[in-house]
Amino acid sequence: MPPSSFVVAIDGPTASGKGTLAKRLARHLGFAHLDSGLLYRAVGLALIRAGKDPGDQAAALAAAEGLDPAGLADPDLRQERTGQAASVVAAMPEVRAALLAFQRRFAAAPPGGAKGAVLDGRDIGTVVCPAAAAKIFLDAGVEKRAARREKELRQRGEIIIEGAVLRDLQERDARDRNRAVAPLVAAGDAYVLDTTDMDADQAFEAALAYVNSRSSGGPGGPAAET
Ligand code: CDP
Repeated sequence: MPPSSFVVAIDGPTASGKGTLAKRLARHLGFAHLDSGLLYRAVGLALIRAGKDPGDQAAALAAAEGLDPAGLADPDLRQERTGQAASVVAAMPEVRAALLAFQRRFAAAPPGGAKGAVLDGRDIGTVVCPAAAAKIFLDAGVEKRAARREKELRQRGEIIIEGAVLRDLQERDARDRNRAVAPLVAAGDAYVLDTTDMDADQAFEAALAYVNSRSSGGPGGPAAET
């Protein structure tokens, strides 16, 4: 990785607030942002649309290899069923390997000439960018995460079935934590931030203070815009 790219890795379980935090940090620092979950979601969605089972390894690998980054803005990627399919294909080592180069390129040479990149996912600090300058592991109690996700889905007009979101989170957590390849786990050198009792502003302030503490001696430090 060229020394000019300052990488912030944010990992954590479903609905821990990674996306919100990553977007805000990237905007503040003037960095590029990659939500790596979208890559797995895109593979899951391709299978759903083709009428294939998400467990179909050959189809999942073909979708990963043919991934078009231009499709990452599709709103259907955010659906809950897409998230479930994503966590099934994400357990396949071949699919993970096929998506690795894109993520590493993004981190090493962020688009738009940005001086750094914020990547969020499950294995950014452990596998994708083990040498990231700053690593944050974002966590929160499962009930709190389910409440946040329900609110988000309601705002998008999705119909919520009582208890279903919590069950879905628990299922995905278990699949992500227990898979053999790149399981969800905090890197040994990550800053663990538990946001169960924090709002988004408090999480952002804590994360920013940590990133700033990691930036001295870096490429001039992340240049704060606001
Ligand atoms: O937004 P949410 O936390 O629900 O999920 P996401 O970050 O969009 O990721 C969807 C699924 O992709 C996760 O359940 C993981 O199984 C998988 N994923 C992964 O394995 N590795 C990543 N770096 C990012 C996502």
